[in-house]
This record gives sequence, C-alpha cells and structure tokens, in this order.
Amino acid sequence: MKFFVDTAEIDQIKELNDLGMVDGVTTNPSLIMKSGRDILEVTKEICAMVDGPVSAEVVALEADDMLAEGRKLAKIADNIAVKVPLTWAGLKTCKTLTDDGIMVNVTLCFSANQALLAAKAGATFISPFIGRLDDINMDGLDLIEDIRTIYDNYGFETNILAASIRSANHMSECAKIGADVATAPPNVIKAMANHVLTDKGLDAFMADAKKAGIKIV
Ligand code: E4P
Repeated sequence: MKFFVDTAEIDQIKELNDLGMVDGVTTNPSLIMKSGRDILEVTKEICAMVDGPVSAEVVALEADDMLAEGRKLAKIADNIAVKVPLTWAGLKTCKTLTDDGIMVNVTLCFSANQALLAAKAGATFISPFIGRLDDINMDGLDLIEDIRTIYDNYGFETNILAASIRSANHMSECAKIGADVATAPPNVIKAMANHVLTDKGLDAFMADAKKAGIKIV
C-alpha cells in the first residue's frame, strides 16, 4: 500500500519524505488554508520535493470553471493530480482531464455507486472518506471493502485512495482490505510506530543497560 501524506505543511512532508515514507501528497482547500500559503506556490514546492502524485483541489463548482482551474493546476508540475469533487460537474471534468492525459483524484466519495461512476469517468484515484463516515455512525472501512470488490470484479484500474484517515488502526485495516493508497496526516503515520509493549520493553532494557554499565560508543 502506498502512503500519501495528507497535509500542505512543507516541513512535515520533508521529514517523512526523507525517511522514504511518502509516495505522494494530498491537499484540500482546508489544508491549504491551514498552511497559510498561496495554493500555487506551496503546491509547486511540494511537487518539487516529492516524486509521486501531488493532489491539488479545484474550488469551482461548474464543469467549465473546474476545467480551467484543473488545467492551470496541472501546469504546476508533471506530478500534479487534479482533485475534483464527486459531483456530476466533477465527473465531467474528470473525463476531460483524463482524456488530456492529466491525473485526476475524485474526492468526497461516500458510496460504492459514486466510486463506480468515478472509475467509468477514468479517474486515476478515487478518495473514499473513512473518518467522515465513521463520524456519522457508518463504517468507513466497509466502503473501502465494497469498492475493492467492485473494482476487482470488473478490472477497473482506478486506484483506491483511502482518505479521511484518523488512526493508525485505519492504516492497517486499509492495508488488509487492499486499498492501493492511504493518505493520512503526518501524526497518524508517526503513530503507526507506537506500541505500549515497545515502550515497556525499552524501559526495562534501558534500566538493565544502566545497571550493567553497558557503553557502546
Ligand atoms: C484527502 O484527500 C482528504 O482531503 C482528507 O483525507 C480529508 O480528511 P478529514 O476528513 O480528516 O478532513
């Protein structure tokens, strides 16, 4: 499973990228707002740092306007994936950009039917939002499983990009289901390293190392 990092914070992307943990980046208007940066500038910087796809989201609602924004975003770098919402206008934009050879990430997906339409429109990525479904008492992981089944049934090449990930547990569950990619905030990716028994074991080893006076360098 590929790891995308869900942030527009340059320092945080760099730290994970230097460790080889970043296969791509996803942003959205809320993350751009949080960064306090201009969308075109910060996206250009991210694209230069990361080899994989960098999703940049349109903000228009009508297909023609989305297309103009998508084409402008795509000019930033070759590794841009234009992010469009899962609306009828978004699907039209997806089809046109895909036909032009531009990667498209169809976002705000909350149902298997929406994912089916995105695949038909040629999306490079479909972004089902796990956490936001969990928030309304539905099981976001069930959706990832349903889309995996449907795409495998018919050999759709659209990549399942599990999004709105809120916990390290979501990451391993997505990997078990077979999501192609999971995008998560940096703190969630770092939290994957944590285990209470690792901390406990390390405390015991450190105490014994001190007692034994072990010195290595
Ligand atoms: C990713 O592409 C989405 O923009 C992001 O994962 C949404 O996450 P949230 O529901 O935690 O805002």
